[in-house]
Amino acid sequence: MSADAQKKASGEAAALLVEPGMVVGLGTGSTAAWFVKALAARKLDIRGVPTSEATASLARELGIPLVALDDVMSIDLTVDGADEIGPGLSLIKGGGAALLREKLVWEASRRCVVIADAAKHVKVLGKFPLPIEVVRFGHSHTGRRLADIAAEFDLPPPRLRMADRGVVVTDGGNVIYDMASGAIADPAALAQALKTVTGVVDHGLFLDLADEALVGTDEGVVKLLP
Ligand code: A5P
Repeated sequence: MSADAQKKASGEAAALLVEPGMVVGLGTGSTAAWFVKALAARKLDIRGVPTSEATASLARELGIPLVALDDVMSIDLTVDGADEIGPGLSLIKGGGAALLREKLVWEASRRCVVIADAAKHVKVLGKFPLPIEVVRFGHSHTGRRLADIAAEFDLPPPRLRMADRGVVVTDGGNVIYDMASGAIADPAALAQALKTVTGVVDHGLFLDLADEALVGTDEGVVKLLP
């Protein structure tokens, strides 16, 4: 089964968790897009809180009513993809540059379900470079502070994310530095160190946030718990 078919199966399985009346956090990325499509097809009376402008426009196109995070007290269920799923459902997210809104939505949610294809499930986090969202003003200085932290963890300096049209700018107007590692030995320590840097808005380590994972495999969708 292709990775895309696995993503589709996990997105469709997650759509079945949604009940009428729920406020639902809508993740970002190709796997979350399958979830949004399957959810729209169910035509339930729900409201969605999008984690990016891209997801907001997809949801609008499909007729899912949207509500702003500030206009709800909490979110019943959030379903979102990940770049890596490690031990205890620790995650790396942010490959699609949406990590900040994603984390804000996840933290406001009663239940968070991560969906992914089988290749995302890893023994140790870090093969996928860790995205770090940084305020644009003076970002090269913040980048040097990040390089110092990387060195403390025996990692190479993070790199400013670029696209064909220049520097990648997030929905929040920030930039992204990607910290390549190979293996993050102590994700909690790295997460804590990154948050001490002025100019860092947040990072893509999602620790103790996922309640459950639905992973598409060749044998069907497998449920993982922390
Ligand atoms: C968006 O910023 C990310 O956190 C995505 O959820 C992650 O990159 C997964 O994307 P895919 O589902 O496209 O692999």
